[in-house]
Amino acid sequence: MSTRPATASASTPDPAAARPGPAAQPHGAIVATGIEHTYSLAGTSAGQPVVALARTDLVVQPGEFVSLVGPSGSGKTTLLNILAGLLTPTRGQVTITGANPAGAGVPVVGYMTQHDTLLPWRTALRNVAFPLELARTPKQERLTRAAGLLDRVGLAGFAGHYPHQLSGGMRQRVSLARALIYGPPVLLLDEPFGALDGTTRLALHQVLAGVCNDLGTTVLLVTHDLAEAVSLSDRVLALAPRPGRVVREFTIPRRAGPHEVRDIYSEPELIALHNELREV
Ligand SMILES: Nc1ncnc2c1ncn2[C@@H]1O[C@H](COP(=O)(O)OP(=O)(O)OP(=O)(O)O)[C@@H](O)[C@H]1O
Ligand SMILES: [Mg+2]
Repeated sequence: MSTRPATASASTPDPAAARPGPAAQPHGAIVATGIEHTYSLAGTSAGQPVVALARTDLVVQPGEFVSLVGPSGSGKTTLLNILAGLLTPTRGQVTITGANPAGAGVPVVGYMTQHDTLLPWRTALRNVAFPLELARTPKQERLTRAAGLLDRVGLAGFAGHYPHQLSGGMRQRVSLARALIYGPPVLLLDEPFGALDGTTRLALHQVLAGVCNDLGTTVLLVTHDLAEAVSLSDRVLALAPRPGRVVREFTIPRRAGPHEVRDIYSEPELIALHNELREV
């Protein structure tokens, strides 16, 4: 086990520290440099601007699985929206596999948002295929790819079901398949399993780890569940309350080889780490 204060790979650096020049840019699947975000609320009755994220640097290496934990309002969703290219940060830059996510041309992230966004009038298969439909992929190809992914997440027999005919865990499997339909190098997950019971959640952990191993996907997972963070991740980053910033980084020991879902309650080292995280 190793725990340490946030470092250059995930940090809120000393303001005096020099910003790296282009030649010194770290490489990574996700590179966020000097990100800050303030919601201005100009023209509304909501009052003062909200500083959601203080200056934050983040590097996630290709194939890495990183979790982000922190109290409600610490800017986790704001950060994911910025990494997905949906929100322009007040300051700083983001690259995903070297490209600006907002202008990459091809989608470079799959994003499972905090709220269920399946379209109720579409079957599971057509929900998964929907992003390819927007990209005008030929029908046969998009349905074949969607069916393959539904199979991969364990829903081969449910392609024709509508969202209301699926359980919460099944809907999350469909959402996961849809997020992966482009084969994005990076997957962003915002509390995807929060509403599920423990058993269903464990089953989905296995599905997620398996799919990401198969596809070599880099994952950034937001969760409130510290056991989930420790059992799935290579690293866990802890955010402080508003303005959000990474204050601690925990490296989780892992045997060499593919991602595994660890049983944190049977490994003393992981129990200690879990307890330490609870105190942050
Ligand atoms: N669209 C918005 N307009 C104004 N303020 C916003 C907006 N979105 C978020 N905020 C504010 O920014 C802060 C961070 O919000 P964010 O949703 O990123 O937090 P979070 O860490 O994801 O919280 P939670 O764990 O509850 O999902 C909060 O104070 C929130 O009120
Ligand atoms: Mg959120």
